[in-house]
Amino acid sequence: MAERWTALDLVEGFHLAHAVAALHEEGILAALDRPGPAEHLAERAGLDAAWLATLLDYTAARTELLEHTPDGYRATPHYDAHARGLLDQYIGAYGPNARQLRALLREPRHAAATVDRARHADAFAGFDRSPALGLMAEVIAQLGLGRLLDLGCGTGTLLQDLAGRDPDFTGWGVDANAAMCGQARRRLAEAGLAGRVTVLHGDCSHLEGALAAGIREQVETLSAASLLNEFFADGRAAAVGWLRRLCELFPGRALIVADYYGQVGRREPPWPRMHALHDVVQVISGQGVPPGDRAGWVEVYREAGCLPVHLIEDGRSTFFVHILRL
Ligand SMILES: C[S@@+](CC[C@H](N)C(=O)[O-])C[C@H]1O[C@@H](n2cnc3c(N)ncnc32)[C@H](O)[C@@H]1O
Repeated sequence: MAERWTALDLVEGFHLAHAVAALHEEGILAALDRPGPAEHLAERAGLDAAWLATLLDYTAARTELLEHTPDGYRATPHYDAHARGLLDQYIGAYGPNARQLRALLREPRHAAATVDRARHADAFAGFDRSPALGLMAEVIAQLGLGRLLDLGCGTGTLLQDLAGRDPDFTGWGVDANAAMCGQARRRLAEAGLAGRVTVLHGDCSHLEGALAAGIREQVETLSAASLLNEFFADGRAAAVGWLRRLCELFPGRALIVADYYGQVGRREPPWPRMHALHDVVQVISGQGVPPGDRAGWVEVYREAGCLPVHLIEDGRSTFFVHILRL
């Protein structure tokens, strides 16, 4: 965790973040993969040249994303797919929640609808596979599990990975975000896997509506990567209720959960910086902070009537893969 910020750090961070967000969202940083003067960019994008020059100068001096060379400004290799994904996720998708924080503090029930879902899908399309998802794919492949239903499948990364490894793999993905489903279908079609993997637009909280009974009967294994953490806005009751329903719909099947241990309000600081930031964003987007340790998650599983079979963690106990029997 970084040192605690001064008021000056905060106000600078606030204005710097807005400057970088504007340069990112106006496509200025992307256009600077080759050096160029501010005036040309401003003219092409219809922006004020003097303002743009100031923002570029400040961003080049205070961030690692941009540099001022003798040939003009140039985006550095730090403005890579991962950095663009972070900006798209934490400023693009969840930025509206930060900007409306005072209203949401009074009416948290509007938080989920405030998230920009299209930007969320763009962010995920830009990310490399996360370590948790990689570990999950490895576990599922090694156990030889097939006929997989991936709940909250996002852009279809897990399904694509598994179907790419095993020509006999069949899978289904369900996601509530239509833009995520679109990205997933496009990627799977491009990889020639659309015949074996089907992506359905629907709400995992009401799987009876999202999944035809014919598909439900074929499912042998379920997975939920970074989905269950969204059910903790009001304690653990929603997560328990959702797991109970899964036990009723898919009795005896394996559920593989990949998720993370919450930090803020769950453990004493210092916290891993990225996780603590994510916790705050989880709260202001209406998802809540998940349990902070293995015991907390196991309590949720047991209360729901799921049997924890195998619990795998990374070395720093920040993310995990848990194998459950429904
Ligand atoms: C953090 S993303 C993870 C995506 C993917 N599993 C991965 O690990 O890359 C969570 C996904 O769950 C989806 N989601 C959240 N709540 C959902 C619900 N109730 N029903 C279906 N999908 C949901 C979101 O739209 C999003 O795509």
